[in-house]
Amino acid sequence: ASILVLHGPNLNLLGQREPDKYGHTTLADIDRGLRERASAAGHELRHLQSNAEHELIERIHGARDDGTDFIVFNPAAFTHTSVALRDALLAVALPFIEVHLSNVHAREPFRQHSYFSDIAEGVICGLGAAGYQLALTAALEHLDQAQD
Ligand code: DQA
Repeated sequence: ASILVLHGPNLNLLGQREPDKYGHTTLADIDRGLRERASAAGHELRHLQSNAEHELIERIHGARDDGTDFIVFNPAAFTHTSVALRDALLAVALPFIEVHLSNVHAREPFRQHSYFSDIAEGVICGLGAAGYQLALTAALEHLDQAQD
């Protein structure tokens, strides 16, 4: 099966960006760890980080035809703003997990609303980079169940 990992704006700066909130792990480290584990489990994992809403929308559209079975998505600031990304996920109707490194519920009020949580399979937040690995665990379980 094929898993798509999407990272929204400013996550290219992980490791340098507000490390007290987002940790010291870089995005490349996160993606490598996910890819290795998916591949050891016999699955393909692709990833994209973009600071541009339209690129993320187009990548989600592409997932409809490229064999993607599951999406792990940290929409970053678009979490709180993007009806367009929500609609893209509804359009392709692929299962996804929403991930946030920080605990958005313990931060500013504007971070406590997500345009994604009610349509996600699940939401993981506040566990740092480990949250992506936990999302992958859930994705792999979901894919195994779909195979039986
Ligand atoms: C984030 C939380 C968002 O509120 C913020 O805009 C981000 C990162 C997180 O991973 O904790 O850029 O999605």
